[in-house]
Amino acid sequence: MGSTERDLATDLARIVRATAEEVEAGQGNELIERVTGHLGAPLPEVVVVTRNWPMWEHANIQRGVDAYLAEHGTAVAWFGVAGGQRTHEDLIGMLATARSKGMYDLGSVDYTTTATGPHDATEAVQLGLVGTSAPGGEPVLLAIRGATPQWGLEQCRLEVLATSRATATEVRNRVEQLMAERDLLRGQVVAFGTSEHRANELLTFLPRPALTGEEVVLPDGVLDAIERHTVGIAEHGERLLAAGQHLKRGLLLHGPPGTGKTHTVRYLMGRLPDTTVIILTGTAMRFVGKAAELARRLQPSVVVLEDVDLIAQDRSYGPMVQPLLFTLLDAMDGVGGDADVTFLLTTNRAGELEKALADRPGRVDLAVEIPLPDAAGREALLRLYSRGLRLEADLAPIVEATEGVTASFAKELLRRAALRSLASRPDEEVVVGDEELTAALREMQEAHNALTRSLLGSAAQ
Ligand SMILES: Nc1ncnc2c1ncn2[C@@H]1O[C@H](COP(=O)(O)OP(=O)(O)OP(=O)(O)O)[C@@H](O)[C@H]1O
Ligand SMILES: [Mg+2]
Repeated sequence: MGSTERDLATDLARIVRATAEEVEAGQGNELIERVTGHLGAPLPEVVVVTRNWPMWEHANIQRGVDAYLAEHGTAVAWFGVAGGQRTHEDLIGMLATARSKGMYDLGSVDYTTTATGPHDATEAVQLGLVGTSAPGGEPVLLAIRGATPQWGLEQCRLEVLATSRATATEVRNRVEQLMAERDLLRGQVVAFGTSEHRANELLTFLPRPALTGEEVVLPDGVLDAIERHTVGIAEHGERLLAAGQHLKRGLLLHGPPGTGKTHTVRYLMGRLPDTTVIILTGTAMRFVGKAAELARRLQPSVVVLEDVDLIAQDRSYGPMVQPLLFTLLDAMDGVGGDADVTFLLTTNRAGELEKALADRPGRVDLAVEIPLPDAAGREALLRLYSRGLRLEADLAPIVEATEGVTASFAKELLRRAALRSLASRPDEEVVVGDEELTAALREMQEAHNALTRSLLGSAAQ
């Protein structure tokens, strides 16, 4: 990062110097006058220090700048740039050519809306500058530039304009420090995804699920073991560290589809309300390096890697390259042991991971099987998913007839039975009796439903 910044700063000075004659006076261009007026120096003497971030850090940059302005005051109000090409040229280029080509001038600030949570968004400056001062009192300008991937600007950017490199760097460092203290991502549930446009990585905020322990039906002791390894370690983090123990943990949930692996992960998210959760599924798994970096930054945190078997064979970076799974396991290893970071992996094909995991010990320190529900489990599930209706059925024969089905099958069975009840008595309370349950089960077990049945994971014929 350091050397790129230096190159960038040098380059900008050169660009400005190249057009120095034209912008020397800066007269007649209000944009340049605003900049040079505040900094008290002609454009060729202006130094710019830049830092780029992924586009989803835009709101964090705005927060850091706002906090900096609160600390040091605003000497020159926000202003923007007018001119048609402003969506794809960078700031200093605009300043350098402002007068020579007559392309840019003082304009109003461009704003954009950016998410700050699952249900919240904030206005952020898309392109604008503001005048303030450095901690030592020297005048500086801060500029925010949102990403415009459609124009090739993949990242968002903070620029600090000053008359010395040291001043500009000092201010940028302070803004970064304020960003870190107020990090918007901390304590959130976020998922990595890919945008359709040029496969940029995106970060989406998700609401945190709230499930109670009763809503997770697992054999005795299974949920306890999982909680001990996740919530338990989180609760005793400081004492464990003091006792020389490591905090980082890796938990693998494996078992047939529809048995509650994702459901359990969702439950854990609710049990860890202040923990940052970073979710990676499918193709987003290739952002695991970024996710691990975020997890370290935002600890205590959980990185959820859903259906890892999907990438066990993925060599999308080429046949000679190691599978994505190994990259993932390396990223897990790269997070220091003292970090309060949990890696939560799920799979329904544990066998495919076995060798990779065995070859790289220490990544997964607990593997828990989430099995098909036994008779007691099936009864509990039938009761759980009939909570909103009146169940007037003898469950014993249904429990017996559903041997080998998954939890999600039991859930769907109740819905179909409820639907039948509604069809025959539309206006009354939803009552599910033997008749509805038996009919729904028969429907789900009939031959022409073979596909549905296999999708829902029923082994019963
Ligand atoms: N053990 C369970 N207790 C209560 N409900 C469950 C359980 N398992 C599954 N369900 C219900 O079935 C739905 C689907 O299950 P879930 O997505 O957790 O399966 P999964 O094990 O992650 O399957 P896959 O391997 O296909 O990802 C859940 O959203 C939940 O409503
Ligand atoms: Mg799942």
